[in-house]
This record gives sequence, C-alpha cells and structure tokens, in this order.
Amino acid sequence: MPQATFYFPRGFLWGTATSSHQVEGYNTNNNWWAWEQEPDRIIHGHKSGAACDWWGGRWREDFDRAKETNQNAHRFSIEWSRIQPLPNIWDESSLDQYREMARGLHQRGMTPFVTLHHFSDPLWLTEMGGWENEKVADYFVPYVRKVVEALREYVNLWVTINEPNVLAVEAFLMGKFPPGKQDLRTTFNVMTNLVRAHAAAYHAIHEVQPTARVGVAHHYRGFQPLRSWSPLDRYASGLPHRLVNEFFPRALTDGVLRFPFRRIRIPQAKDTQDYLGLNYYTQAQMSINLLLAKEFFGKYPPDADLSEGGFIANVPQAMFKMLQWGNGFGLPMIIAENGVEDSKDSLRPRYLVQHLHQVWRAVNFNYPIKGYFHWSLVDNFEWERGWTQRFGLWELDVESQTRRKRKSVDLYAAICRENSISSEMVEQFTPEIFPTMFPE
Ligand code: FCB
Repeated sequence: MPQATFYFPRGFLWGTATSSHQVEGYNTNNNWWAWEQEPDRIIHGHKSGAACDWWGGRWREDFDRAKETNQNAHRFSIEWSRIQPLPNIWDESSLDQYREMARGLHQRGMTPFVTLHHFSDPLWLTEMGGWENEKVADYFVPYVRKVVEALREYVNLWVTINEPNVLAVEAFLMGKFPPGKQDLRTTFNVMTNLVRAHAAAYHAIHEVQPTARVGVAHHYRGFQPLRSWSPLDRYASGLPHRLVNEFFPRALTDGVLRFPFRRIRIPQAKDTQDYLGLNYYTQAQMSINLLLAKEFFGKYPPDADLSEGGFIANVPQAMFKMLQWGNGFGLPMIIAENGVEDSKDSLRPRYLVQHLHQVWRAVNFNYPIKGYFHWSLVDNFEWERGWTQRFGLWELDVESQTRRKRKSVDLYAAICRENSISSEMVEQFTPEIFPTMFPE
C-alpha cells in the first residue's frame, strides 16, 4: 500500500471556531434571544437556552478538551450585548470574563482568535435600527475599542465581523435571521453599512493596538454552472459569486462597493484587511432557471455526498478553488471555519481529511495559508436551525450538558499533533477514501 505524509507549514494554526450566542447561554439581551421567543422563527421552537453553558464556566473544560487534543488556537467571539448592555453602560465584569477566557487560552499555550461581531446585536441597537442605521459604525467603534483595550494583552488576531454577506442576506433578503426583512434595497444599504463599520473598526483597532492583525471571516460559497457550456448558467453562477463571495473582500481591498447597477466609493475601506479570513462549507450548482426562480444559492447535484440533513454537500475541490481565488488578494489567508453537520460522525472524518488535503495542495502552491479552524468544538445552537444540526467534534447533550467525543476528535488530534495528514491516519479513520487519496 502506498505511504505518504502531507505536511503543513511550521507554525500552522490548528483550532476550532465558536461564537458567543451559540455557546454561551442566556444571552437574554440580544436580538437573537428575542427572535427565539417569537413563534415559527426557529425550527421546532428550539431555543438557545443554556447553550453549551460557557457563560456558566464550561469554556474551561472545553478549552481543556481542545488543548488535550493538540489544538494550538481557538476562535471565539465577544457578545456585544454583554459588554455594552445599554448605550451608556459598560459591563466591566463581562469584560473580565472574556479577559479570563483569552488568558485561559494563553495559559494553555493556544493562540486566541477573537471575533467582535458574530451575528448577534444588543437589543438597544436593534431598537435604533440595527445594521440599517447609517450610524451603526459610530456605535460599533466604541465597543470595539473597549474590547481591544481590555484584551490586547492576550489577543492580536481579530475578526471585526463574521460573514457580513450571510448577515446581510439572511437577515434582510431571506428573512431567516432577525429582523426578518426581505428587501433588496435594504440589503444593499446594510452591506454598505457593514463595509463602513468594518473599515472604522479596522482603523480603531490599529490605533489601540498597532501590531494587531485584523480581518473579516468571509463566507465563501462555491457556485458552479450546472451546464458549463451554457453562457446563461455561467451568468447564473457568476452573479452570486460576485455578490456573495467577492463583494466584501474586493470592497475592503480597493474601497469600491460593486452593486449590480451602481458603485459606491468608500476610500477609508481600502486596504483594511491584514489577512483574508475564509469560511468554507460547500458548493452548489447554478442554472439560469434557478436564478429566475430566485433560488440564489443553487442546488446540489443528485449524486452529491450530502450531510445528514442535506444542508451541506461534500465538495472539497471547491476549497482549493476558493484558496486559489483568495490568493489573488495578496494577503495571508486563514480558514476561519469549515465543517459539517453530522450527529453520527459518518461523513465528518472524510469531509475533514478531504478538505485538509485540498488545503495542503494549496500550501504546495505556496499560497500563504496560516491556519485552519474547524466548526465547531462542541455541538452548539445553529441559529434558525436550532439544535437540529450537530457540527461539533464533541457531541453535546443539551439537557445534562455532558460531552461525548466523536471519532473525528481523535483524527483531528492526530492531524494537529503531527502537523500533517498521513496515509496511516487515512487508513485508520477514513479507509473508504484511501484509494483516491493515495492511488497505487
Ligand atoms: C456559519 C456561521 C456559524 C455556523 C456555521 C455552521 O455560516 O458563521 O455561526 O452557523 O455556519
């Protein structure tokens, strides 16, 4: 049998990613908590409740799990509604708790990677119009400064905003996230406000901490024309690619917001990324018919290797495609999220290995890829999909708060320990893909 080892660069960051509302529990002062109380917003009426009880202190045991399984970094987010419960009130004890968490990672020899906004807003901001309010950047910046001042001793790698494209589309076009709007013009306004807020935060962070490394975690979705020969299908996949994938990273490169029939210049947004953060899960096929039917996100082919609930198709080649495209921005890249919903852990091991294999291929082209963060450490509250989707390396029993490790834990632990993927690992954990990964 062929033997080989695929090595990653020295100093590669290996971790998992989480977000405040999904893991902390009892974030009663944000727009998501309020949304969960409304009928029919969340599948089966699920609620975040205690989530993974991190605010109750269980982040400690989960950080231990990450450490014991050889992860050297962790991405977590700060809950704005805890730091600034009202516009004129700063909650120092919450800041202390986050400082404790960042310090906790340091003590475990792990690099903290901190997100300042991951989908949830304080209720007071919602009342002021949230991301529709043109002044939202003016509200975001003081909060950002406060957090960076408090954590700069331990943190210098920041995400300002998680997936601005998903936030804008789900909350203002699809209506699945609060405030549940479905309006294109509003979506475009929100996109503009998100660029402004990121740019202002970028400059503020560098003022407080000149050595900071600041970026965005961009959601990248692969769009493939259903019929590659068809110019119409190529248009149907090119359009969402430009609006979903390219809009934000390009705006933050040259300060130009490219809307379909209009351009806006925001000079202060130019060159406001120190690295390119990328979240990749899947690729879909697009055809002109789907576009006309307003199925903007495409469909999976009938033979797709689908996740448990059909939410994600396993398309590792598009990970490579993304990195190739991302390399064009001339920035170091960090894969800030990648993972799959899979309570039984039957797809995850091969999904993990196949995606990392593509990352390794990209590394061999000398693309400057600095780290990989698997979504997620422990099962957590999946937004409007509630608890139906299980993305954790560890399984969570929400009632009893017990964690049970899935077999992917040992696989990922071996990869992180060896800074590589070996044929032995593949043979042991995902024998079904051995012949394609290591052909005779
Ligand atoms: C991403 C989100 C993250 C999680 C994963 C599954 O879009 O950033 O919070 O929901 O999807």
